[in-house]
Amino acid sequence: CGIVGYTGLDAAKDILVSGLKRLEYRGYDSAGVALERTGARGAHAAEPAPATTIDVIRRVGKVSGLESELAGIDLASTCGIGHTRWATHGKPSQDNAHPHTSCDGRIAIVHNGIIENFVELRSELESRGHTFRSETDTEVFAHLIEEAYAASSDLDAAVREACTRVVGAYGLAVMCADEPGVIVVARKDSPIIIGRGERGSYVASDVIALIDATRDVVVLEDGQFARLTPQGISYTDDAGRTIEPEITHVDWDVDVAEKGGYPDFMLKEISEQPRVVRDTLVGRMRGGELDIDELGLSYEELDIIDRVYVIACGTSFHAGLIVKNMIEGWARIPCEVEAASEFRYRDPIITPSTLVVAVSQSGETADTLAAIRDARIRGAKVFGITNVIGSPVAREADGVIYTKANKEIAVASTKSFIGQVVSLTLLALMLGQVKGKLTCGQVRMLFHELGDTAEQIQWIMDTQGAAIREAALACKDAQSALFVGRGVGSAICYEGALKLKEVSYLHAEAYAAGEMKHGPIALIEPGFPVIAVTTRSPVYDKTVSNLKECEARGAEIIAVATEGDEEIRAIADHVIYIPRVRDCFSPITATVPLQLLAREVALLRDCNVDQPRNLAKSVTVE
Ligand code: G6P
Repeated sequence: CGIVGYTGLDAAKDILVSGLKRLEYRGYDSAGVALERTGARGAHAAEPAPATTIDVIRRVGKVSGLESELAGIDLASTCGIGHTRWATHGKPSQDNAHPHTSCDGRIAIVHNGIIENFVELRSELESRGHTFRSETDTEVFAHLIEEAYAASSDLDAAVREACTRVVGAYGLAVMCADEPGVIVVARKDSPIIIGRGERGSYVASDVIALIDATRDVVVLEDGQFARLTPQGISYTDDAGRTIEPEITHVDWDVDVAEKGGYPDFMLKEISEQPRVVRDTLVGRMRGGELDIDELGLSYEELDIIDRVYVIACGTSFHAGLIVKNMIEGWARIPCEVEAASEFRYRDPIITPSTLVVAVSQSGETADTLAAIRDARIRGAKVFGITNVIGSPVAREADGVIYTKANKEIAVASTKSFIGQVVSLTLLALMLGQVKGKLTCGQVRMLFHELGDTAEQIQWIMDTQGAAIREAALACKDAQSALFVGRGVGSAICYEGALKLKEVSYLHAEAYAAGEMKHGPIALIEPGFPVIAVTTRSPVYDKTVSNLKECEARGAEIIAVATEGDEEIRAIADHVIYIPRVRDCFSPITATVPLQLLAREVALLRDCNVDQPRNLAKSVTVE
């Protein structure tokens, strides 16, 4: 979900809508705003000041729907809050959309996160006469603040008080009709960014909604509060004492938030991948030695590591699968890769010599965060691979490597994945070097080959478009597709199948090619698309024999093969080439045509590639 708020000199409506559009990738099943309305002043100066009220406008669906509705409403309000939602508690409906209000409608709130004790709080509040209008957990916050405000008539104190009652995570922005022009903000485990522009004060759950107004922002910490007014911003701690938070300068270009001539963010971000490889590697080799500034773990600490768990969700989990062989092969340390949502609920073997590597583009995925907190309590060293500087994963880890992908907007991750694989490869090289299993010369050679993948990705983008489009046509009307490969090829397939499912809604399954005959082969009938990663590797011949089994049953075979491999044409109906590359680095290149294939299939099926249904970019709920 996304939060935005503004109080200042300009019309809040337009600022909120453009902020919500920037945040829409975080959830798009409903959207809404709350805007202050100042009553008309009477003819006589002696009349009391007109009462301020709060208008709430909400709509199911995308922000563009809300925008059209707001276009017809004449509101010169200069203070408001807005929200774009990804449903957790309660279906996407107008009643469940944010902002939520207190019974008297004088307090409005928007909230990201999850309130774990909302059932108890709701029945407690209902027993005291509060009427609820939604099925959301968030609404309890509005009622708690209403009660506390009735007692203190102090919005800051009321928000602080409400926060003490809530168990869970929140990024919260609150308005109160009795304190016009004021927005009070609180945070625990859900990001809140605050900025002061020339014409007002801004809040959002992601810096991308603020970059038009300011590049100097405050990343609110857990337990901190802020009070925004048109004149300025003040910060307090949980006891109401004034604090001076640190200002972070954001040095992104505004173009990260724009498509820059590309038809969609997905293609723009796929095209940025050569730069991501280069930026992630730049400055990492000094004086012929691997050097990772932000590593945070000493050689001694790395040297004692005897077990590695890579934990992550979604695409980040697939990056982990790809690097497992490198960690085991180069450093000879056992490495397991697990979904964070599973890892945290079992009893993994963790000792002080265990390294837990959390991979998370956003650095805020709830399951990944919870898993590293548990791992740390059990005594593990924790390492983060993330794209977001200062994100919770970066802050809570002992060391970190940043993926340098820059902001990723399309919900289906592409360039972040490439950044993660490159960063994890650096970690694997580092472990190999520290453990004395790789010589300095080997590390240098592998590092340079890793860097070469930037040009190789560019070659794929420049030369394989037609082949990818032809393959996409073969998948367009299918009901289902199978991705097969061996070794790292099977790990690439998991990501290829996920991408296709996410953006084109075509059912896809990835399988180790050798396992096909134990089940999935039953699916194959004439025309069934089988997408095979058959790059030149020691298991090439084995994969080709598995493809023959598919061919014999009429499958339409799309092969991702090594440039120059003409033999594969005998069996594959469509061939997409990638340059020759060391087997361990083939995931970095071979994933690219699969990303492009997923996008082409999605476009042929009229799907929105940037905002697929039901998904959200950042999942901050468990
Ligand atoms: C969501 C996104 C995926 C992403 C996953 C993990 O499901 O839609 O693209 O891979 O979360 O996110 P993270 O930020 O932890 O990498």
